[in-house]
Amino acid sequence: MNVAVIGLGYWGPNLLRNIYELHRTDRLIACDLDPNKIQKIQSRYPAIETEIDYRNVLADPRVDAVFIATPVSFHASLGEEALRAGKHIFVEKPLAASVKEVEELIETAKTKNKILMVGHTFEYSPPVLKIKEILSSGQLGDIYYLSSSRVNLGLHQKDVSVIWDLAPHDFSTIFFWLDEEPNRISAAGKDFVQKGIPDVAFINLEFPSGAIAHVQVSWLSPSKLRRTTIVGSEKMLVYDDTENIEKVKIYDKGVDYKDPETFGEYQLSYRTGDVVSPKLDTYEPLRREMEHFLNCCETGEKPKTDGYNGLRVVKALELAEESLRSGGRAIEL
Ligand SMILES: NC(=O)c1ccc[n+]([C@@H]2O[C@H](COP(=O)([O-])OP(=O)(O)OC[C@H]3O[C@@H](n4cnc5c(N)ncnc54)[C@H](O)[C@@H]3O)[C@@H](O)[C@H]2O)c1
Repeated sequence: MNVAVIGLGYWGPNLLRNIYELHRTDRLIACDLDPNKIQKIQSRYPAIETEIDYRNVLADPRVDAVFIATPVSFHASLGEEALRAGKHIFVEKPLAASVKEVEELIETAKTKNKILMVGHTFEYSPPVLKIKEILSSGQLGDIYYLSSSRVNLGLHQKDVSVIWDLAPHDFSTIFFWLDEEPNRISAAGKDFVQKGIPDVAFINLEFPSGAIAHVQVSWLSPSKLRRTTIVGSEKMLVYDDTENIEKVKIYDKGVDYKDPETFGEYQLSYRTGDVVSPKLDTYEPLRREMEHFLNCCETGEKPKTDGYNGLRVVKALELAEESLRSGGRAIEL
């Protein structure tokens, strides 16, 4: 296959490196409108072709697929153009800047019979997949709630709020784990540093199953946290992505409630047992993700993170942002 990576800022070079190291492409083209970005790539990978104008990439009939890692505001227009030019597309998260744009991309991909995949990297990561396995086995019992923190100092974005920048990771992961979309969303937050661009947000989600979730995202926090707690009726789990080895811990802890025989005699007993940290695979999620996309392009298989997977995340982002901007009003889906 011949592929191109469009957008070589902070994230694009990671895509490029993984595709390069897979050795599965005949031609690999690196494209960015900024000559400095091109120069950096040329010095690191002298054998890779480069291009300043993405239109030349799309006009080249030998290019089969493009990876889009530009700012979110360009995802839809670039994606549409690429699909119409007959290319399969991989688009970084979030798939586009609105539900309407995502729906159009899905429709064009269908009409052109091309693969559309979104870069929800965490859905390919070993701890997230292990947690999915644990939840599916039922060992945590009924899921009561999830609480997630994704905070650090920076990187402030110029075109989107912290919700659009960081919450796609938590939303895609939580929806994947629970296998459902929220039916109610509310969010509070503020634009402390750049006016009009919220840099901290506290998002609440409610799901049809009865589970609730709280997602905290911030570019304004003294230390890096990537931590999710899942509390079930039987056990509890903590996923800390900043840990090197024991990223996932299952706590055999809980509370048992016995119905009272007479009024006022109810009993609560707290359980505390073993803490288990399951063994995790060690591959790089991005590598697995790139591989999956190339497989889908070759075989026509539906990507695990397809357009609809991107749509449910963008829908939730749009509503969370709307709630934040309307003072925290809860929105029903
Ligand atoms: N999966 C992840 O974990 C992850 C992590 C970080 C960023 N991202 C996503 O990656 C995307 C890019 O983010 P970033 O932080 O790298 O942004 P960035 O601003 O650092 O880089 C974007 C690059 O795109 C280039 N560009 C813009 N328009 C272009 C065009 N028309 N043609 C060619 N080049 C163009 C810019 O010159 C810039 O170099 C975003 O969607 C972001 O959400 C994903």
